[in-house]
Amino acid sequence: MAADSRRVTAFAPGRVNLIGEHTDYNDGLALPFAIERGITVTAETSGDEEIDVLSELLGERDRFPSTAPSPGTGWRAFARGVVGELLALGVALPGCRVRISNDLPAGAGLSSSAALTAALTLALLALAGEPELERIALARLCSRVENDWLGAQTGLLDQLASLFALPGCALRIDFATLTVEPVPLAVEGWTLAVADSGAPRALAASGYNDRRRECREAQAALGLSSLREATAEDPERLPGPLARRVRHVIEENHRVDRTVAALRAGDLAAVARLLDDSHASLRELYECSVPPVERTMAALRSAGAAGARMMGGGFGGSVLALFPPGAPPPPPPEALAVAPGAAASVLLRTPTSPSPH
Ligand code: GLA
Repeated sequence: MAADSRRVTAFAPGRVNLIGEHTDYNDGLALPFAIERGITVTAETSGDEEIDVLSELLGERDRFPSTAPSPGTGWRAFARGVVGELLALGVALPGCRVRISNDLPAGAGLSSSAALTAALTLALLALAGEPELERIALARLCSRVENDWLGAQTGLLDQLASLFALPGCALRIDFATLTVEPVPLAVEGWTLAVADSGAPRALAASGYNDRRRECREAQAALGLSSLREATAEDPERLPGPLARRVRHVIEENHRVDRTVAALRAGDLAAVARLLDDSHASLRELYECSVPPVERTMAALRSAGAAGARMMGGGFGGSVLALFPPGAPPPPPPEALAVAPGAAASVLLRTPTSPSPH
């Protein structure tokens, strides 16, 4: 074996967003936390000039030159994008074999894409013998992969949640300043659970992009540099749909800080009410719920949830529910796939830095 042969591994977690939806791309506030499930990437030098990637989940491979990846489609776009972005930063990558192990359901709104880009980037930087990038820069790189190599217009919520995760904490992220403040998440006998609505994903990307466009239009009409600056009177100056979007953003930012205060006070009943309010706003003002999500909400409520809300980009995805002590989430029936062990107390985990083996 060559003297510089190396093997590294990196893990990046998926995330649950406790509250603060459709606020990241409006310079607002959100309160995500990392879950125990995530993506593990191992990489080892191969001695040639190719990158050979295996997705264990799909049983599929991809091969491309380590010095000039062309764009790919589907899952293949991730490694090609990460390599392309690292090369653009001047990181020279050795030929290598990369293996992706996935412990996160894709498309369930638990941020498998951000976990994959984060784990690939951490592993490949370590393999190249480079120091880790500063985490905000790392999050931006991962976001460029999704925007430019996959064509997904996401904000920075998922990447920051995965890269800044701390045990036992949610993260209050202020997207105007990109500051991340840990907030202890002690649920004291309550249980947070996630259920996949099973809604088809077909409309999710176009619906999400429509909402982003509406926010840009509202911001321009109000003459603001972001909707973070909008005041409670601003919606009155806008036509109906744009007024509703802006009201959601203003009130959702307030709900994030009210949730932080409720967590600090140990008032989980108040957190549950805030989840319900967030959902009502996403349904009525942001208009991004769909019937399968509403059915999942109803199923979780009748199973005893004290509060629940849809999570992520909307038009499908997962529902987050908070169950009080003595009312544990039901075992997952077909239509209510509660993520195994989805209790905040056992789900929190720090992403491990890649460690050479
Ligand atoms: C998706 C995006 C995030 C964020 C949420 C909505 O999960 O990836 O950047 O915009 O939707 O809060």
